[in-house]
Amino acid sequence: MYKLVVKGGIPLSGSVNIAGSKNAALPILFASILADGPLKLNNSPHLSDVSTTLRLLMDMGAEFILESDSSLFVDASNLTKLVADYNLVKTMRASILTLGPMLAKYGEAKVSLPGGCAIGTRPVNLHLKALEDLGAQIEVKGGYIYASTKKLIGTDIHFEQVTVTATENILMAATLAEGTTTIHNAAQEPEIIDLANCLTKMGAKITGAGTSIINIEGVSNLSGVTHTVCPDRIEAGTYLIAAAITGGQVTLKKTKHQSMRAIIEKLIESGADIKYDENTITLNMKGKRPSPVNIRTSAYPNFPTDMQAQFCALNSIADGQATITETIFENRFMHIPELSRMGANLSLEGNTVISKGVKSLTGANLMATDLRASASLVLAGLAAHGTTTIERVYHLDRGYETIEEKLKLLGADIERIQD
Ligand code: UD1
Repeated sequence: MYKLVVKGGIPLSGSVNIAGSKNAALPILFASILADGPLKLNNSPHLSDVSTTLRLLMDMGAEFILESDSSLFVDASNLTKLVADYNLVKTMRASILTLGPMLAKYGEAKVSLPGGCAIGTRPVNLHLKALEDLGAQIEVKGGYIYASTKKLIGTDIHFEQVTVTATENILMAATLAEGTTTIHNAAQEPEIIDLANCLTKMGAKITGAGTSIINIEGVSNLSGVTHTVCPDRIEAGTYLIAAAITGGQVTLKKTKHQSMRAIIEKLIESGADIKYDENTITLNMKGKRPSPVNIRTSAYPNFPTDMQAQFCALNSIADGQATITETIFENRFMHIPELSRMGANLSLEGNTVISKGVKSLTGANLMATDLRASASLVLAGLAAHGTTTIERVYHLDRGYETIEEKLKLLGADIERIQD
């Protein structure tokens, strides 16, 4: 097992390239199941979740070639095993995105239930209900979802709650359904637009992606295409905070500010000077201590839950008191006790974190618990006096490409070492 060792207190400075989005790459890779030819994916991030997705697709009969550093070919057009096995699904909830495409293309699918998750129960009932609305028969037994259909039939789907991956599952399934599907109360994330753009290139007929109502007119088949994944707004936001929390400055390259409005607004409120153009964002904190920011997480275009933990780290050294309320996941606070061990003054009231900023944190031995909580611990370690050790780095590798290398480029003293 690897751990990260961070010697904090260095203001970061420099520029860093932002990778392709994890949450766009995963659904697009699963969309390759729908196509009758190979998908070429450019700007694919180097993440363990991408490797898990490729392993899962290969286990089902797909072939893949790594063409270059960040380009890969996946041919999932002729699956030989319509099963998403527990051993792979258990490590990555996004595996549920095999369900819609398999059902639409082959009329059957057996997908392991994703199981427990450190940030809450995260059920898949809304995925299953919407697929039943499209005409699928679904049974859950022995930890597996068994789904079958003669043919999915387009209909009106009303999500009672905004859900990202269920919107994606239904969007993909509806592309090969008979007739028209309308998704109401759809998630509006940029990653959904990226998926819809890729499906449209494949030949799907989709309007409204990026709004709360998406229309899909079913077609009889889709073809292989080349697609370039959009930038990762959560990785970008995390590096902006890395500079802000150390009083430094950073220029992000290969990024898009348009999808980061809520994050950028909060960083400006915290006292950062932010400038952007088409593909870059520059943040300069000019050595200042951050001002505290009040946050309420909510579905896009509002403030993302995937940035909540990182802002908790920033608020922990801010000059004053603030609250952060989590409304998406009921138990996404694993970072709070760890940050407290570094001297942060954080308390939880229901789903709200109350922070009373301290002047400085002290390095400590910490345990990473989930992807974004782990990122917040790295950020706190960068700001803290002394040495911070973060164990279970595999959580970070799910969503941050070579995090220690990128932070080193910005001047951080950080090493990955083996236990
Ligand atoms: C996706 C993202 C994740 C992000 C989250 C919220 C991917 C691969 N993951 O996760 O990074 O944190 O969106 O922006 O894109 N829910 C149900 N029943 C369901 C589905 C969801 O009750 O069938 C609930 C969830 O428990 C949660 C809320 O709906 O409380 C939103 O979850 P959802 O948007 O589905 O999250 P994911 O798609 O799993």
